[in-house]
Amino acid sequence: MTEKAVILIGGPSRGTRFRPLALDQSKFLFPVAGKPLLSHTIDSLLKINTLKEILLIGFYEKNIFEDFVNEYNSQLKYTGSNCSIKYLKEYKALGTAGGLYQFREVILKNNQSDNFLVIHGDIICAFPLQQMIDKFETVRTAKKAPDAVLFGVNLSNYTYDLMLTMSPDYHSSYGLIVSNEKKNDKVVHYVEKPESRISNIINGGIYLFNTNIFKLLSEAKINKISKANDENCFEIVDEDSLSIEHDILQNLPERNKTYVWIYKGFWKTIKTPSDALVANELYLDLIYQSKQEAQTCILSKASVNIQPPVFIHKSTNANNTKLGPYVSIGQNCKLGTGCRIVNSIILDNVEIGNHTLIKNSIVSRNCKIGNWCRIEGTGINLVSVNELIRKNGVSKLKAVIANNDNFRVIGIKDSGNITILGSDVHVKDETIVYNSFVLPSKQVTQNMKYEVIM
Ligand code: GDD
Repeated sequence: MTEKAVILIGGPSRGTRFRPLALDQSKFLFPVAGKPLLSHTIDSLLKINTLKEILLIGFYEKNIFEDFVNEYNSQLKYTGSNCSIKYLKEYKALGTAGGLYQFREVILKNNQSDNFLVIHGDIICAFPLQQMIDKFETVRTAKKAPDAVLFGVNLSNYTYDLMLTMSPDYHSSYGLIVSNEKKNDKVVHYVEKPESRISNIINGGIYLFNTNIFKLLSEAKINKISKANDENCFEIVDEDSLSIEHDILQNLPERNKTYVWIYKGFWKTIKTPSDALVANELYLDLIYQSKQEAQTCILSKASVNIQPPVFIHKSTNANNTKLGPYVSIGQNCKLGTGCRIVNSIILDNVEIGNHTLIKNSIVSRNCKIGNWCRIEGTGINLVSVNELIRKNGVSKLKAVIANNDNFRVIGIKDSGNITILGSDVHVKDETIVYNSFVLPSKQVTQNMKYEVIM
């Protein structure tokens, strides 16, 4: 029974790689597959029916998330949900665990359960949270609850993709988990971003922690304060900052009560704008495959003009255009006759002229694109399992999978080259913009390739 969840969302100084899209908002509010990135995480949490509170912890100004949180809470109230959402602001960047420590009383308040979830706001996946909760219960003994269940992504399940997308030294970008398969996947070793590849299982950024981890954090805090005040210590120590990875995870294996839950679906961290396009694709696929949501549905039905999955906001008229696959279109857009959009995100109030092509691109709010333009990125052309299912049917795909153990799930995708138009950009008729970034409020009057317009 898990009642509380924390989503770590960092702050403006951390989202810099998401520019130019994060210039006027947080990357967590950037819409992919019809809703803000953060809503995909929150909606997955809301499927846990014991959950009472979701805490967003970061160091953005409060007003950035105010409307978002208020809208969610009114909706939750309206639907009779027992869960509510709060944004908690750290007084400065406190590291991945500093906020947990600062707001420990809020996390523990009215929490009848002995555990709580922590999720990195910048990861996307299918969020199999109930399975992690079930694992926590399975390994619980009469005497002792586990210290944690970690969400591990086993990269050997992604060999096909990995060859194309991940550098051989990927291990230096993630925490690596070594576990004992014979003992329920008990974690025996954890190293944060090591220099050598000691395991194929990476820390996927979701944790189900026992509330006793606050003891570890208190000890770490005391150590930091004494180090910071020690005249003989020449290290620069920020006594306010704490880290999940260094102050919790690296100390857990020796306590012998931490487990990993190994996931095989799609997973990715969202750091750059082109990652948003991959998130759009993977989430559209996920929604498309989930029949229940398809019926209530936010996605457009397949037709001569729509190649699913495609999301079009109901205020946008998309007759006379050819869309898809992997297209999300926001509110009040005007799409000209004969335009073609593939693998792209179009934000609100965008006007697109007749016969214009948009491919592998992100078009921000209030852009105006003329007639006969090409707004295009190279993108990448990996075959995803979902495409294979659509082309071959499930049974044929099962046979492919059965014959090739490396082909189980393809999910970690590279982002490739894309074109991004910042908000209020105007593009003249018959102009080509290829693999380029255009910052907000610019006029594009001539063709551009591999350029950045500042
Ligand atoms: N509230 C708050 N305060 N959140 C923070 C802070 C902070 O000071 N610093 C980072 N975060 C949030 C980020 O917004 C992100 O959601 C998450 O914590 C991870 O932070 P990063 O600092 O970007 O970590 P990373 O991606 O390099 O590595 C971490 O994540 C990997 C999986 O995505 C590590 O935990 C790795 O071990 C892990 O494999």
